[in-house]
Amino acid sequence: MRFRVEDLDQHYGSAQVLRHVGFEIAPGECLAVLGRNGAGKSTLLKCIMGLLAPSAGRILLDEADATGWSPNRRSRAGLAYVPQGREIFAELTVGENIEAAARAHGTYGTAATEETVSLFPVLRDMWKRSGGALSGGQQQQLAIARALVTQPRLLILDEPTEGIQPNIVALIGEVLRALKGRLSILLVEQYLDFAIDTADAFVILSRGSIVETGRAEAMSREHLTRFIAV
Ligand SMILES: Nc1ncnc2c1ncn2[C@@H]1O[C@H](COP(=O)(O)OP(=O)(O)O)[C@@H](O)[C@H]1O
Ligand SMILES: [Mg+2]
Repeated sequence: MRFRVEDLDQHYGSAQVLRHVGFEIAPGECLAVLGRNGAGKSTLLKCIMGLLAPSAGRILLDEADATGWSPNRRSRAGLAYVPQGREIFAELTVGENIEAAARAHGTYGTAATEETVSLFPVLRDMWKRSGGALSGGQQQQLAIARALVTQPRLLILDEPTEGIQPNIVALIGEVLRALKGRLSILLVEQYLDFAIDTADAFVILSRGSIVETGRAEAMSREHLTRFIAV
């Protein structure tokens, strides 16, 4: 999917949280949005998913103007969102979490479901456990799997490594790198090395504005650090 955000503004009451935010993600690429706490990253993703209506600007999916679309319609068009804090169904089992997402998209029982689950072997082991009984890292894998079974064209992740142990961070990184090419990824991260290993391009957000943007090969670690060091 060719994905584009144009001139997005967002306010909470009188406070402006996003200012003229615009970028594009080429098909099959991963764009990382970096920025400190409070920069507006999660707000940006909520606008993109249709959970918040932006005060101005446009969201384009393959040139279709999706700005006024419901979250459901965006998800049917190929957007899948893994929110910060994961938000899996704690009372449902792992299997039921996956099944609910796949059924809603008509992909249940397809090879894609099996293939997705096989990316995260622990989910198979925990299939009948309730989501709430999983560790944070297991819940994150479930949240990503639940997004992937919908066979998205753009996978949107809000700080997927936050509070996750290193071996699972490494697994999530491997999965994302293997998926690139087949789908586009919009990755919000504060873990710089993870973003560097995964992204093809960067956008840096500071107090709601884009302050730097560029291809990964043109962005050194030192350069990126300067924007997000506390
Ligand atoms: N529901 C809300 N109501 C009012 N202000 C909010 C709300 N959510 C976030 N904010 C404020 O908007 C700014 C951006 O928040 P957020 O998008 O969560 O940033 P980030 O994800 O980059 O940490 C912060 O100043 C935050 O306090
Ligand atoms: Mg956030």
